[in-house]
Amino acid sequence: MIKIEAIVREEKLEDVKSALNAIEVNGITVFQVMGCGTQKGYTEVVRGTTVDVSLLPKVKFEIVVSSEEWEQKVIKTIQEAAFTGKIGDGKIFSYDLRSAMRIRTCETGYDALN
Ligand SMILES: Nc1ncnc2c1ncn2[C@@H]1O[C@H](COP(=O)(O)OP(=O)(O)OP(=O)(O)O)[C@@H](O)[C@H]1O
Ligand SMILES: [Mg+2]
Repeated sequence: MIKIEAIVREEKLEDVKSALNAIEVNGITVFQVMGCGTQKGYTEVVRGTTVDVSLLPKVKFEIVVSSEEWEQKVIKTIQEAAFTGKIGDGKIFSYDLRSAMRIRTCETGYDALN
């Protein structure tokens, strides 16, 4: 099992969601997050406390898939749906996942996903 995390522009939420629905991904989790990339940000001291004023709102998707074939398919789908070509389009990460369980049935591993 492989977990894919993608951080994309807020305004790409619907595009990415419908692109993933179109390839029939079984489940997604979406988060509202704050982040910065290579352009970094800067910090400011406000009332004696250093605060980050450069974190921008982004949307994070988490998707767990059962094979490398699906991993590549999901990554390509997100890349195409989230692309504008301007800085700040986001990033896609993936990594091996140890376990999964469907709570209702106690199925584990691949069975929990499909
Ligand atoms: N190395 C990283 N680790 C964790 N999150 C990251 C990393 N790089 C980017 N992100 C997340 O992705 C979001 C978008 O990053 P961004 O697209 O600006 O990356 P970038 O490397 O600066 O690319 P670009 O030059 O296209 O802007 C960030 O706000 C942050 O949430
Ligand atoms: Mg950037």
